[in-house]
Amino acid sequence: MKRQGIRASGNALGLAPALWESPFLRACRGEPTPVTPVWLMRQAGRYMEHYRGVRAGGSFLDLCKSPARCAEVALFARTFLDVDAAILFSDILVVLEALGLPLEFTEGGGPHLPQPIRATAQVEALGNPAQAAADLDYVYQALRFTVAGLPPHIPCIGFCGAPFTLAAYAIEGGGTRQFAQSKAFMYRESAAWHRLMEVLVSALALYVNHQIAAGASCIQIFDSWVGELTREDFREFVAPHLSRLIAHIGAGVPVILFGTGTGHLLDELIACGPDVLGIDSTTDLAVAGALAARHGVAVQGNLDPCLLLAPRPRLLAAADRVLATAHSASGHVFNLGHGVLKQTDPEQARALVERVHATSTASGRA
Ligand code: CP3
Repeated sequence: MKRQGIRASGNALGLAPALWESPFLRACRGEPTPVTPVWLMRQAGRYMEHYRGVRAGGSFLDLCKSPARCAEVALFARTFLDVDAAILFSDILVVLEALGLPLEFTEGGGPHLPQPIRATAQVEALGNPAQAAADLDYVYQALRFTVAGLPPHIPCIGFCGAPFTLAAYAIEGGGTRQFAQSKAFMYRESAAWHRLMEVLVSALALYVNHQIAAGASCIQIFDSWVGELTREDFREFVAPHLSRLIAHIGAGVPVILFGTGTGHLLDELIACGPDVLGIDSTTDLAVAGALAARHGVAVQGNLDPCLLLAPRPRLLAAADRVLATAHSASGHVFNLGHGVLKQTDPEQARALVERVHATSTASGRA
């Protein structure tokens, strides 16, 4: 089963014209836009004083489970930056918790899963995917609150982690550089690996479709660490599952597939069926944009988030270069190559967005 892409399915959800014709959704469909749309991965987060204030006194997971506060931080960041899309405030790892894996976020140290998957029996013991998707109701509620607070022409992006990236967190028990445990499990317990991927995809497909029902008008799949795989391993252990997830996402919403370090996987990722390919700054945007265009796919990216730490003139010049490089693309959504770093000055992020709008208007990309 292959999903009908957004360019063929049209406005299957019957979105209001202001939303359907927004620069962000038009760019996702490869249609000309009056201005290049821009949003920033992790646009709501610790670099913002407002976020730190809303989170104060509670844990990050508590915040994720407080829909009104999630909407507040998502909406504040959207307005402050004047970006062309909001993104649901949540985390990719809440799905693992809903499937029965205890999850905690250590202060400053990132995610920790104290009972990582190391044996086949633990895969079999995972929760029921439908129940997991139902238990994530607080996410759908956050989305509804966010959408309700947005201007009518601003889309809200829903998201999930990709099966590979989630499996890697489940097996490693947290962040890693080498993915040795994950790959060892993949090679040595291949049947259990495929079963784990199937369970994840079943839960994720339900999860993102619930997000669409709650008002998400685009879905981004974060496969942050997929670039760690060789082409051969990607094809054998990941592609069938990622393709199945994308195929199950309802018609009428564009699907953005994002990964880092994926220069060697671009054609393989495109073959999984996304409408937009998200790339990081190690991948050449001109090359990725031209390749994607040949398959009727748009691109998103790819300014190095560290450039937000550079003096303003360097940041703005780099933004202009990204815009110029994207001319070979059939649809470009400006973004960073990865999330905003926590030491970023929010004013730099705001100046970046302003520059993307100004330069792309002046160059008349449409
Ligand atoms: O504004 C937004 O982009 C929406 C919110 C969002 C968060 N996480 C909030 C968050 C999104 C889209 C994510 C996705 C996510 N989470 C990914 C994929 C994107 C990527 O960065 O590659 C991954 C790998 C995770 C897992 C995760 N969550 C990590 C590794 C960490 C700790 C390290 C870090 O960068 O903070 C988190 C915590 C997290 N997720 C925070 C936020 C705002 C920080 C929480 C805090 O300390 O207050």
